[in-house]
Amino acid sequence: MQLSGKVAVVTGASSGIGAEFSRDLVKKGAIVYGIARREDRLIALQEELNSSDNKGKFIPLVMDITREKSLSTWVEQTFSSDSGKLPDILINNAGYGRFSPVEKMAPAEFDQMMSTNMNAVFYLTRLLVPLMKQNPAVCHIVNVSSVAGLMGNPTISVYNATKFALRGFSEALFKELREDGIKVSCIFPGSISTEFFEPLGMDTHDNMMRPEDISSSVMFLLETPDNFLINEMTLRPLNPKAP
Ligand SMILES: NC(=O)c1ccc[n+]([C@@H]2O[C@H](COP(=O)([O-])OP(=O)(O)OC[C@H]3O[C@@H](n4cnc5c(N)ncnc54)[C@H](OP(=O)(O)O)[C@@H]3O)[C@@H](O)[C@H]2O)c1
Repeated sequence: MQLSGKVAVVTGASSGIGAEFSRDLVKKGAIVYGIARREDRLIALQEELNSSDNKGKFIPLVMDITREKSLSTWVEQTFSSDSGKLPDILINNAGYGRFSPVEKMAPAEFDQMMSTNMNAVFYLTRLLVPLMKQNPAVCHIVNVSSVAGLMGNPTISVYNATKFALRGFSEALFKELREDGIKVSCIFPGSISTEFFEPLGMDTHDNMMRPEDISSSVMFLLETPDNFLINEMTLRPLNPKAP
């Protein structure tokens, strides 16, 4: 896909890798609808990107992706085949983790983590797929899982469950949508230096991957030729230990 002029929806655009995907897409000439809850962070990113040659290409949207009604209202108001405005790219990136032994994990936290990391991906995907099917160009959905979507580990069982679920969803969708000209990729990153670790009380360090590393890999996935799909990609620090 040639990214210039494409319309992308990126969830979790207010920080970390979602902000980096948004920067790279805008720099490549795409229009980005960046969704998150923290308005100040989205506005700061918009101002940063407006100062480049791509004024107006980052459109901030303050929304909680677990609210299906907000998503459906926005999609209805924004896209239609009549207006010719159709999405080309969806990056389901927003997510978070809370870690604890299973008996100490509150049911409400389970619900919230599953709702953010999996249910919301389903909500937004089911709203955008019909529009992508009307788009004559090849479209691409990228789901951000984690190495925690490939292997379970003590104290992260709920986060594991959300990210394993996302893998299954992605694999089924890649087979379901390929004949409609919609690519589906699922990425499985190891540790990345972002705010993800702040609420966990864990420090980031120089041996973690950088958001730029993940974003350049996702740009590579998006820019592959139309009839070429990388449906899964695992990304790891070579040596994950703190220096
Ligand atoms: N960092 C890592 O080591 C790592 C490794 C593998 C996978 N991942 C995955 O990568 C993704 C991005 O994480 P990150 O590392 O970039 O961390 P981050 O900086 O904490 O970013 C998380 C993003 O998700 C958004 N978000 C969370 N809940 C939301 C909600 N209900 N509605 C809308 N937006 C919401 C946050 O925005 P607001 O708070 O403003 O809403 C923020 O923009 C996550 O899915 C994470 O599981 C991270």
